[in-house]
Amino acid sequence: MTKKIKVKNSGIIKLQFFDDFPDGNLVIGEAKKNVPFNIKRFYYINNLFNKKSHRGLHAHKKLEQIIFCVNGHFTLLLDDGEIKQNILIDDPYSGIRLGPKLWHHMTKFSSDCVILVLADDYYKESDYIRNYNKFLEYIKK
Ligand code: TYD
Repeated sequence: MTKKIKVKNSGIIKLQFFDDFPDGNLVIGEAKKNVPFNIKRFYYINNLFNKKSHRGLHAHKKLEQIIFCVNGHFTLLLDDGEIKQNILIDDPYSGIRLGPKLWHHMTKFSSDCVILVLADDYYKESDYIRNYNKFLEYIKK
């Protein structure tokens, strides 16, 4: 995990956790505390056994999300239209803010990778920008 996020509308969200060795770790997020919004939706992605899997390739107009890798690792490309940053996501205790107007692409998943995403709104296809040129036009507005 990187220490510094260079792109806009992003950042690192640290979770509190208890190391209860030998009984596992307990990890906690709380809405409007370390998670900076009220959570209306969550989704997770598992079964990433295909080495060529890729996900994302879109931006959102308004949606706020935090992405966690609760197990394994993957690479997250973030692109705010000016700066691009590749981040190895391998720390289950830190999430990355995926704010609006941030193009993202996820690749290089470990086969044990499990991704958890928290969102501040329900699913709305109208909030997606799925074409990179349209994304570049949208952020200029
Ligand atoms: P998408 O967000 O494009 O996935 P990813 O960015 O991880 O590659 O979503 C894939 C499909 O799932 C798309 O057809 C919409 C649907 N979907 C929902 O119906 N509800 C949801 O909350 C999400 C995240 C996706």
